[in-house]
Amino acid sequence: MRRYHVTTFGCQMNAHDSERIRGMLEELGLGEVAELEQADVMVFNTCTIREKAESRLAAHLGLAKTLKDADPGRLLAVGGCFAEVQRERLFEQFPQVDFAFGPGSIAALGEWLAAERNGGASGSFGTGGERRFTAELPARRERAFQAWVQISMGCNSVCSYCIVPTVRGREMSRAPVEILAEIKGLAADGVREITLLGQNVNSYGRDLPADRRLDFAELLRACDQVEGIERIRFTSPHPKDFRSDVIAAMVECDSVCEHAHLPAQSGSSRILKAMRRTYDRERFLALAADMRAAIPDLAITTDLIVGFPGETDEDFAQTLSLVEQAGFDGAYTFVYSPRYETEAASLSGQVPEEVKRERIERLIELVQATASEQNERRVGGVEQVLVEGKSRTDDALLRGRTRRNTTVNFSGDAAPGELVDVRIEATTSTTLRGIAVSP
Ligand code: 5AD
Ligand code: SF4
Repeated sequence: MRRYHVTTFGCQMNAHDSERIRGMLEELGLGEVAELEQADVMVFNTCTIREKAESRLAAHLGLAKTLKDADPGRLLAVGGCFAEVQRERLFEQFPQVDFAFGPGSIAALGEWLAAERNGGASGSFGTGGERRFTAELPARRERAFQAWVQISMGCNSVCSYCIVPTVRGREMSRAPVEILAEIKGLAADGVREITLLGQNVNSYGRDLPADRRLDFAELLRACDQVEGIERIRFTSPHPKDFRSDVIAAMVECDSVCEHAHLPAQSGSSRILKAMRRTYDRERFLALAADMRAAIPDLAITTDLIVGFPGETDEDFAQTLSLVEQAGFDGAYTFVYSPRYETEAASLSGQVPEEVKRERIERLIELVQATASEQNERRVGGVEQVLVEGKSRTDDALLRGRTRRNTTVNFSGDAAPGELVDVRIEATTSTTLRGIAVSP
């Protein structure tokens, strides 16, 4: 049996695409191996959101080249966003690559592998014609009780720093009947938690024909009706489109978790304008306040960028104060990285590296302090936890996540996939510690 290995970079959409890649390869009769070194078919599912993602990839492809040089029978396929963006130059830059495919044409990899068996050509780029949802492909999920469900692809926003719209194209929503059929199938398979995925979930449905359209709030309500699904998450919303109907649906639907990942990007209205986010600091804070008022115990996490072109000390101070005012439960923090053909890459006032470094360090420190503070508030309370397995740091403990999406290490007796109530006894900045109080 031929053996395969998939290395994944980037966001949850990519992680989900990799599940489909695995499922497809297994259907073709390949078996997964844990190490790249053991694989006959090496697949890299790439990201291009920041420069760092690319330099990491280059190192990985270097290793793949060494392996291929030692054993020319091995195949190397590169998919995902970097492949899409570099499709013109990919084979020049990395001649070791046999096949490349964009995020909208994952099925093309399977077609190529099947053809390759019969002596097919190498060095081609698989487009698979039209962009396709991957739902037609089998998925090899990491956990039996959790699943991602793609609700849209592409993005119609014009954030001036972001390459995603170029890579993943215009937004295209999946038909509600297809989404719901998939979720019902997952529930029948024992899935209890789903995460709805889209580049901007709040604009879901706007491109659908009026007679077959649900908006995001309606989609949440429909998903909530599916028997067996205990938890619904979604990522990522755009604050500009997060309207009160979605907040109302979150309140109404028992299975929708008390967590919103709400990317703010900056706390400075001036920078937000240059980023073309179409909301300002006040509107973001008002939205966060409305959500907290409507949804008790809501956790809000965010994405923040430092060092956007033209960001002054004062702008950065505004980001720091936004973190404090919004009381984020967590944040992914990024150093601004100029991307090809984005508007911001050609703006004047690019911020020196050492200033970016200094800012991100200060930001991370503050985010950790704020997150710790939020976690402290949970101590003494009881949280519902979906058990994921053993603790990563202590074999005697179990690990799971609360509805607010915080990791809990706890003592107790439960199997992965079970929901247990855990009394929270202590915290670190990122995790909680507790003891199970009910099966
Ligand atoms: N530089 C730094 N961070 C970026 N992000 C997107 N584009 C860039 C960029 N050019 C961040 C944003 C986004 C997250 C997925 O990545 O914060 O929300
Ligand atoms: Fe995901 Fe964006 Fe990276 Fe593509 S470029 S994998 S959409 S984070």
